[in-house]
Amino acid sequence: MDVLIPAEQIRERLDALAAEIGRAYEGKPPVTVVGILNGCLMFVADLVRRIDFPVRVAFVTASSYRGTATSPGRLEIHDGLLPDLTGRHVLLLDDILDTGKTLTRIVAHLLDRGVASVKVGVLLRKVGRQEVPFEPDFVGFTIPDKFVIGYGLDFNDEYRHLPYIGVLEGGEG
Ligand code: XMP
Repeated sequence: MDVLIPAEQIRERLDALAAEIGRAYEGKPPVTVVGILNGCLMFVADLVRRIDFPVRVAFVTASSYRGTATSPGRLEIHDGLLPDLTGRHVLLLDDILDTGKTLTRIVAHLLDRGVASVKVGVLLRKVGRQEVPFEPDFVGFTIPDKFVIGYGLDFNDEYRHLPYIGVLEGGEG
């Protein structure tokens, strides 16, 4: 496996991203960070500790991918863990923007629930894969079209614990 983004580089980028988010939300509480499980695990944990205004943290689950098969199946959204978000400003965080379908669906879902606004932050954005028009507000890193693992991202539910982003051997897209 090759290391694509070392842990130190992730830490530095998160410092900058948290500052950017702070400026975007200045004077605009109450904010709820909503992470999309399971891939957001590290990203949310590390980012919220750098945000210097009060936030609530909540999670949704969405699943459509199995292994390296990046042609999406049916997307299932489980929002049973979400508190009442009516009137809240939501910062939705996901590990990776690939085709854009997951985030498009979840943003629509949150708007249906009566949130005041939704901004989207992704740790990674893959180039050349997007199938639906979607512009995230905050992007950690733009990466090539490779299947990546680590720092929350998995292959068959393994490798999430790695502190860096790696490229799985033979893992195209
Ligand atoms: P879409 O295509 O809807 O998908 O933007 C976003 C979700 O797809 C998964 N995904 C990956 N997971 N390595 C992974 O471990 C990858 O390279 C990868 N590409 C997409 C991921 O669950 C993400 O939330």
